[in-house]
Amino acid sequence: MIDKEIIKKFWTEKSKEKSNRWSGNTILEYERNLLAPYAKRANKVIDLGCGHGELSRSIVDRHTYLLGVDYIPDYANSFDKPNQSFVCSSLTDYKPFNVFDLALLLGVVTYLDLEEENSIYCLLSKCISTTGLVVVKNQCSNEKEFVFNGYSKFLKTSYSARYPEYDTQINRLSYWFNNINAVKYPEEFNTWKNTFHVAFFCSNKS
Ligand SMILES: C[S@@+](CC[C@H](N)C(=O)[O-])C[C@H]1O[C@@H](n2cnc3c(N)ncnc32)[C@H](O)[C@@H]1O
Repeated sequence: MIDKEIIKKFWTEKSKEKSNRWSGNTILEYERNLLAPYAKRANKVIDLGCGHGELSRSIVDRHTYLLGVDYIPDYANSFDKPNQSFVCSSLTDYKPFNVFDLALLLGVVTYLDLEEENSIYCLLSKCISTTGLVVVKNQCSNEKEFVFNGYSKFLKTSYSARYPEYDTQINRLSYWFNNINAVKYPEEFNTWKNTFHVAFFCSNKS
């Protein structure tokens, strides 16, 4: 089981830093290029588990409404433009009050247990318009799902995360969305031998 206390402590510490992404600028740039065309077409974007919104804030233009949701209150300071809002809430408690053209869940699934993962897919399905797009991105296990609990030498802190199995994550998403297109990131971004980065583009368009 993942350790919720360790995870929340980890993100509370990270929120004090200017950047909460440690995977580097090349991957951030890759994600900007991947998602910007969809953000440009959207009038309303929701970023669930937004952190500082380094990705989402940089791909929406000033006419697009961007809502960030995260359970760490300090991230609110980053959403300071007239078109940006922030709601401090755990994703499992969050109730959408609006529908969005684009909903993002990037780098979050690994911090959710299975029940939470499913409930947030349900939330995502309610967040988007009939023609809307959901993008779920995380690292998947190369084999069976596994949980890491322990000291991360790379991050120099205690860490906890769950790495889902690719096929079963697609099956779970398929319950909520008709179309799923998986985009595996270039091999060079996969720092660890047992996981890989993948984005699932989910929609209900026929
Ligand atoms: C890897 S960061 C990703 C930030 C952003 N989505 C991005 O791609 O730049 C994960 C974020 O998820 C948030 N998070 C994790 N579990 C959460 C939960 N149960 N409810 C709300 N936010 C959560 C953390 O606070 C953190 O900001």
